[in-house]
Amino acid sequence: MAIDSAFISELKFRCPIDEVIGSYVTLKRAGSRYVACCPFHSEKTPSFTVFCDTSSYYCFGCGSGGDVITFIMNRENLDYIDAVRLLADRAGLSMPEDGGQSDKKRRSRERMLEMHRLAARHFYENLTQGENPGKKYLASRGLTAASVKRYGLGYAKDSFDDLKNLLLKSGYSLQEMEAAGLAAKSRKNGGYYDKFRGRLMFPVIDLRGNVVAFSGRTVLPDGTPKYMNSPDTDIYRKGNIVFGLNIAKSGGDGTLILCEGNIDVVMMAQEGFKNAVAPLGTAFTEEQSRIIARYAKTVIIAFDSDGAGQKATSKAIDYLRMQGVTVRVLRMQGAKDPDEYIKTYGRDRFKLLINDSKTPTEYRVDMLREKYDLNDTAQKMEFIAESSEVIAALPSPVEREIYAFSLARELGISAETLKADIERRRKKAARSERRRAEQAESRAVTGGQDTVNRDRSKNLLAARAEETLIALLCKNPDYLDYITSQISPDDFVTGFNRRVYEFITESLKSDSSVSTLSFDESFDSGQTARIMFMLNTTVLSDNMRAQTDDCIRTIKAQKNGKVDAADLSSEQLAALIQKGDKKG
Ligand code: CTP
Ligand code: MN
Repeated sequence: MAIDSAFISELKFRCPIDEVIGSYVTLKRAGSRYVACCPFHSEKTPSFTVFCDTSSYYCFGCGSGGDVITFIMNRENLDYIDAVRLLADRAGLSMPEDGGQSDKKRRSRERMLEMHRLAARHFYENLTQGENPGKKYLASRGLTAASVKRYGLGYAKDSFDDLKNLLLKSGYSLQEMEAAGLAAKSRKNGGYYDKFRGRLMFPVIDLRGNVVAFSGRTVLPDGTPKYMNSPDTDIYRKGNIVFGLNIAKSGGDGTLILCEGNIDVVMMAQEGFKNAVAPLGTAFTEEQSRIIARYAKTVIIAFDSDGAGQKATSKAIDYLRMQGVTVRVLRMQGAKDPDEYIKTYGRDRFKLLINDSKTPTEYRVDMLREKYDLNDTAQKMEFIAESSEVIAALPSPVEREIYAFSLARELGISAETLKADIERRRKKAARSERRRAEQAESRAVTGGQDTVNRDRSKNLLAARAEETLIALLCKNPDYLDYITSQISPDDFVTGFNRRVYEFITESLKSDSSVSTLSFDESFDSGQTARIMFMLNTTVLSDNMRAQTDDCIRTIKAQKNGKVDAADLSSEQLAALIQKGDKKG
């Protein structure tokens, strides 16, 4: 079945390729692209690349590539229609053909949300009315009634059927409760019972204000696990919600404090830091960093001060910086988390910690400094080498200069020497990056045995010009009229490129955005991958107008001459090019 192209456009618009692929693999920003280790073949250095401006991906290692739909087809092993269906589901779009099916799904989601709303209200009443273990626990943690209200906290009684009975009375089935993650089914006798028991309940609220899950902390002295979280359901996926963001997003100045625990968030807000959020039950994910980036210009990371917290900090720094967020790192001494710190030292000292928070580079160099004994010369050298690597990775020369200067002063060495060392490391990294790209290119397009474009190796000059022209057109869809007025598919020398050119010009006539083009239905996977390679790796000059004209000239000259540069002497070639120049 062919799916309406307007629907595919809408779908691709709603499923940004970096978000979709980013939920499968960890993408690292590299300029205007993202790179990752390829999910389709095994590799240690990343050659899998996502190109946001063309909404496509290409792996320089294994040569797979395509758009967001291709990715889902390959990754989830689905055919085209099912891949589209999966993405539509993810984007909340109903497939053009099966409205009935998704209506049913929508209805069951609505009921699940209603159950959560009821449950949250019930837990809140359990906590706030009369004496109960939840209230006692709350007091022991120093949390106030105002905090309960702010976050809608509640108490799940130490009972197997308190919530179950309420939901049954309200017309929900046991199966619905289980699907919502609110009830569990006994393996022994098949009966259903409340999943959350004897717990202080934190409702997980999305940005529209819906309760979509719960996180419950035991209030029993030896209760395990300490925290129990809702499973993934039709309305909740772990790692796609940031705890507290529904509150933190609306106050403040675009700064968020990212901490580890639910209680940290509530305690910070109680003490006046209402911009606190936490990852909730998972390690901080890339998806969460993307959500945060929509609401924050600056994020202060205040993870636990232990080893695990340091590892998590390092990862969070990378994720957040990839999203263009300014990152600071708060370091605590004498307490393991913000809750403990505030209780021990008070809010004013916590405020000082915030003001003293470090830049990621300062933080990383601090970590290295603590690792080495700087009185030992060998260790000091190690420290300098590792710190230089950290500084060399900074894209801004001004920043490199500043850090190099202060590090040199600290170590009592000349700033010039250190700067030279840093720049040498930078060049070395750039060289190996370039070498890798070149190797990848020669692997991807092996002139000799090109099965995608069989005419290519015999018509290299023309093929390159055709590919460049196609890339130029995709980069500048507004050139469409001009290019089509100058050159027609018949002028193309190689068959495959002709087909691609035809497909793109035809598609652009009805939809002016390249990122919504869908190649999968017209090209096989090898061909699609080649197109992605063409669109994303062709080097475009600063003067794209002139380059366009050059390409058109070359293609026509090749077509008319029916000879390839390889067959020409250099004088003949020069003459040909000159002839072309005069014509243009
Ligand atoms: N967490 C979780 N599941 C666990 C342990 C922790 O989901 N089994 C999550 C919770 O969101 C919790 C956060 O990780 O708030 C931090 O956990 P932890 O560091 O163990 O918190 P503590 O500070 O030790 O616990 P608390 O302050 O709640 O007593
Ligand atoms: Mn804690």
